[in-house]
This record gives sequence, structure tokens and C-alpha cells, in this order.
Amino acid sequence: MNVNIFDRPQVQEFLKTVSGLDKPEGDPRIKAIIHRFMTDLFKAIDELDITPDEYWAGIAWINALGTAGQAGLISPGLGLDHFLDLRLDAKDAALGIDGETPRTIEGPLYVAGAPVVHGHARLDDGRDTNGTPLLMHGTVHGADGKPLPGAVVEVWHCDTRGFYSHFDPTGVQGPFNMRRTLIADEAGHYSFRSIVPKGYGVPPGSPTEQLLFALGRHGQRPAHIHFFVSGDGHRKLTTQINIAGDPLVNDDFAFATRNGLVPEIKQHTGGSPVNGVEMGEAFDEILFDFHLTELVNGEDNQAVQRARVAA
Ligand SMILES: [Fe+2]
Repeated sequence: MNVNIFDRPQVQEFLKTVSGLDKPEGDPRIKAIIHRFMTDLFKAIDELDITPDEYWAGIAWINALGTAGQAGLISPGLGLDHFLDLRLDAKDAALGIDGETPRTIEGPLYVAGAPVVHGHARLDDGRDTNGTPLLMHGTVHGADGKPLPGAVVEVWHCDTRGFYSHFDPTGVQGPFNMRRTLIADEAGHYSFRSIVPKGYGVPPGSPTEQLLFALGRHGQRPAHIHFFVSGDGHRKLTTQINIAGDPLVNDDFAFATRNGLVPEIKQHTGGSPVNGVEMGEAFDEILFDFHLTELVNGEDNQAVQRARVAA
């Protein structure tokens, strides 16, 4: 038998006390958010008849999640990162902004401070010999559709084991391996050589994986490459491209795949230089242009401030 007490006046008063709404001290915005969160949580416990055992299992899981540093991992896993993107999309639609490269989630593995290179760069240190060499290049366009000289393309991706430099548990990769800040040339062109990354998953046995398994889901991502793209007078774009042909390209636990972000891969057998870059042996080529959008009333209304690693 379940009993419901949520609507009782003393419970409603208790929620106000819990959230500090009965006193002037504190931050009004945080009070409003916590009041709403606690209201929804109390109601869920009441309506779903969540038992004390279930509740304390949840608390133990939250502690384990924090100890493992995985709040930023379960966030995309539960679709919250994608939901924030959908809200930004809707705000753009309401403002009449269109024609931009689709945004998608940042993920938790960006590191600030990557070496800055003008024009073309090589991202990998050559030690991961399991990867197919990759040449990726394209043009950054401004809101007027014209190339944007000096645009900044920050790129980061993992190796063929699915490990990112600075987060590699084997310690094999040097600082900023497969990470660079590229400055587009006077034609708005960027270019880099690297290797085609592989997909990866959440750590086996981790709190994130435990919850996903309990939901009947997996914690794997298709191969992808992350980007921040910015330019004078334009909003900073956060996006990723997926590697076409990856079996999980439309089954990403982090929900980052979007239309327009799975460019074709052109396979070369080697030989002649492509776009002025001598790649040597067989390699894959991705041509991908970025389209940025103007500031809104002089501000970047899609810029996200969050805790990020810097090195
Ligand atoms: Fe990633």
C-alpha cells in the first residue's frame, strides 16, 4: 500500500524551509532552482513509492559517481547535454538564426592551452601506428557566407585505443597529442593531418556504466572529432563530426550525432599531395566547412562557461 503526503500543507511548507524561501539570506536564483528540484524529487519519491533502500542505493551511487569524477559523463548519457543543445537550437529558431553548422555536445575532455598553429598542423605524434592517416581540411565561413580569415579552430580527438591525451590511463601520450588550436589562413582555410580516431566507451564497471546497464543501454560512442570554432564578430561554435561508417554512428550513448555532422570520407591510395599536403601512404580525407553565426546584440549568447581542464 502506498500513501501520498506530497500535497499536505506541512510538506509544502517544509519544501520552502528546505530551500531557504522563508528567509531573506542567500541567493534567490539558487533558492528557486533548489525549491523546484526538491519539489520534483519529493513528488517522485511519493508517487513512485521509492523505498528507503532504493533511496540510499541512489545516494551511494551519487557518492561513487563523484569519487570517479563522472558527473560530466553521466550528464550526456542521460541526454542532458543534448537537451541543452536542443534548447539553444530553439532559441536560434526564435531569433531567426539559421544556416549554421549544427552544434553538438562538448563532452568533458577538452583541455585549454593546446599549441597554436597557423594554417596546417599535424596533430598526432606518429606513435599510434594503428590509425589510418587522416587529412581533414575545409573553410570557415562567416555569417555573410564569406570565408573568415583568422578564424580559430580548436580540435581534439582520441587515439585508436579510445584514449585522450591528458586523460590517458596508460600515460603513453604526451601533452596535447591530437589537440591543436589552428588559425585559418587568409582564405579562411584550416587543415590538419592526424589519424582516424576510434570510438570509445565509459570506463568498464564504472558508476556511469552501472546505471546505463540498469537502463538496458550501453556506454559506447562512435568515433568522432571535437571542435570549437570561433572568429571575430561571431559566436563560438561547439561541435563534433562523426566518422562515417562507424557501426555506432546513430547509436551514441552521449546523443551527439546530428544531421550534417557525418561527412563523407574519401579514401586515397597515396601518391600525389592533396591540397598541398604530402600524405605519403594510403590515407583518408575529410573535407568539412564550418559556418559561424553573428553575435546577438553584440554578445555570444551560446558561449558556455564551465569548469575545464587547462594545461
Ligand atoms: Fe570525445
